[in-house]
Amino acid sequence: MALANKTAAAPSTNWKETLLPDEASLHAEHQLAFEEISKIKDAKYGKGRQLHRKGLLGLHGRFEVLSGLPDYARFGLFAAPATYDAWIRLSNGGMDRAADRKPDIRGFSMKILGLKGPGALGSGDTNCQDFLMIQRAAFGFATSKDFVDFVHSAALGPLSLFKYLFSKFGFLGGFRKLGQIAKALKIPFTGFATEKFYTATPFACGPYAARMRMLPATSTDVNANAQENWSSDFLAHLSKGDLQFEVQLQFYVDEASTPIEDATNEWPEAVAPFITVAVLTVPTQNPDSTEGSQLAADIEAAAFDPWNAFMEHRPLGEVMRARKVVYYQSQLGRKG
Ligand code: HEM
Repeated sequence: MALANKTAAAPSTNWKETLLPDEASLHAEHQLAFEEISKIKDAKYGKGRQLHRKGLLGLHGRFEVLSGLPDYARFGLFAAPATYDAWIRLSNGGMDRAADRKPDIRGFSMKILGLKGPGALGSGDTNCQDFLMIQRAAFGFATSKDFVDFVHSAALGPLSLFKYLFSKFGFLGGFRKLGQIAKALKIPFTGFATEKFYTATPFACGPYAARMRMLPATSTDVNANAQENWSSDFLAHLSKGDLQFEVQLQFYVDEASTPIEDATNEWPEAVAPFITVAVLTVPTQNPDSTEGSQLAADIEAAAFDPWNAFMEHRPLGEVMRARKVVYYQSQLGRKG
């Protein structure tokens, strides 16, 4: 059915996850690929994250869950109106500590603090709820294997990347794929205060399934030189007053429009409209003060992970299940 003819549908609890037959061993192989990436990149930069290595800012925020939410949203973190402290990490997505102006996927991670409830890993309570967002409504790869093979071959160098792309897509197809990736990366990015950010992948909301996005609510002035230094740009916005972002959810309606397992599909707003559930405030603060730099160091050392979540917000889909294995290993690697 053509999506153009569709209108908003009611959120449904009728979603399901479909596990690949060999998923556990596939995800264990990803761990090996990322261990190799760590060896190469840690030798160059010192220990750090395997992706989103370049942290730009670590800030504190306030996360306010709004009142009057519809019944289908009132689960886990969103069960009742409340205000929580939050940690925020802004990052460039690459494996390298590249110049800010280089095209990249950018990360806006939040950790909502001061919580207690059954955790998504099923091994006890969680004391925080993390949301990791990028500036894309959908992920660029349908499966974790596609992504990990791509990242792994890119880490080994341009020759490996070409070899991988040509063996997977054929000679012309390899060039086409490279062109698509370059084009996607070149979509202009105006700055962390002025862009929308998305989880791009789904998570549970009680018996429902949802994706999140965040709208820049208060800051609309785009700085033409922002790409030279994303951190300075964000702080320039912050120097004018607290920054507020609207936090929104959209809900699974059916497998055709809002698939759980294929992360490359943007969930169309016409069918699954976003509703505002919370407001994130980043108060004016000085990251160069003694407290500010200590906070930034603590945030850089912390683990932001979609599996740091309430069971009621359990990450969903194959890409999310792969992240459970890979992030944990990346966190262990940079601690040691
Ligand atoms: C199979 C797919 C994916 C793999 C293998 C992967 C891998 C990783 C790894 C290894 C890290 C570093 C973790 C750490 O050391 O703390 C990371 C960080 C991150 N990833 Fe992914 N990722 C995947 C999918 C995604 C998706 C779909 C998003 C979309 C929101 C995303 C957003 C982020 C962000 C924002 C960070 C930075 C977290 C921070 O600030 O500490 N990733 N990813």
